[in-house]
Amino acid sequence: MPRLRTVAVVAGAAVLLRRALRRHIRTSPLWPMPALENPTSGRPRSRALRLLVVSRETVADGVVQLRLEGRDLPRWEPGAHLDLVLPSGLVRQYSLCGDPADTSSYTVAARLIEDGRGGSREMHERVREGTHVEVRGPRNRFPLVEAPSYVFVVGGIGITPVLPMLRALGDGTPWRLLYGGRTRASMPFLEEVGKLGGDRVTVVAEDEDGLPDLDGLLGDAPIGAAVYCCGPEGLIAAVAERFPQVRLERFAPRTATDGNGAFEVELRRSGRTLTVPAESTLLAAVRAELPDTAYSCEQGFCGTCEQRVLEGEVEHRDELLTDAERGDSMLICVSRARSERLVLDM
Ligand code: FES
Repeated sequence: MPRLRTVAVVAGAAVLLRRALRRHIRTSPLWPMPALENPTSGRPRSRALRLLVVSRETVADGVVQLRLEGRDLPRWEPGAHLDLVLPSGLVRQYSLCGDPADTSSYTVAARLIEDGRGGSREMHERVREGTHVEVRGPRNRFPLVEAPSYVFVVGGIGITPVLPMLRALGDGTPWRLLYGGRTRASMPFLEEVGKLGGDRVTVVAEDEDGLPDLDGLLGDAPIGAAVYCCGPEGLIAAVAERFPQVRLERFAPRTATDGNGAFEVELRRSGRTLTVPAESTLLAAVRAELPDTAYSCEQGFCGTCEQRVLEGEVEHRDELLTDAERGDSMLICVSRARSERLVLDM
């Protein structure tokens, strides 16, 4: 019991310390931060590493694989990802797809998203052999749990966090994989996946086979199997409908258009009230009124856009805040209102 009490006290103190630091930053003359033409990286969450890109190769249509070299790199487990700071300051997350035992380099793969927000294009066009990049992590929110068997459902670049899992499982534990993509040529690591899994792997290329028949392919998934899904939102939603207990890794955070509509926000200190449309993030709506509002990753993991909530119920969609912090804070780049109205202290 005394030990439990000590843990609780230490945890409570850590939360208070984080809050005090944030309060200090907010009340410093530098807060709010100046408007950022190009988003810059947010508060550091783990030791930043400066790594050298030592190889860059195309591994599928529109997909490059990069090897980033360093020394005594932190170890990682299958499913982990890096936060990578691009030359412009944009921060993007990439799953590690190399060998977890290699402490001299990390390997990631990135798909070019033509109509994306710029990060993937920058990764493809500006990060070359010889480029130095800053990374943070690795962090793992998609770990391989103990289970009697495994079912993996992935789409395209979603294979990257799963590949090290398949290597780790080897032949000792039953697993099966459904790997979908637009065309075979656009699906990275297809050959290696085939060699690893043989007939445990079902490849569905849309241009040849149409959309995957999830019911047919997964309907007889073994009871007790751990189900993992990584891919586009449509695939995740379809799998989650069939396997509510599925473990998910998204390519991108849930956005304003996922699941709820417009809502009203009062910015109390500024004396403004605005409507956040269904197709807009709260951050975008706030910045239209208050262009100096600071932000960085726009993905709910750096904390730069955190704001205090005075009233209303929040639908938290970030990867950062603890349950305790969610009591009166939100990250406005990804989170939204669950109630019709929110009041923020800004
Ligand atoms: Fe990074 Fe919102 S901008 S968490």
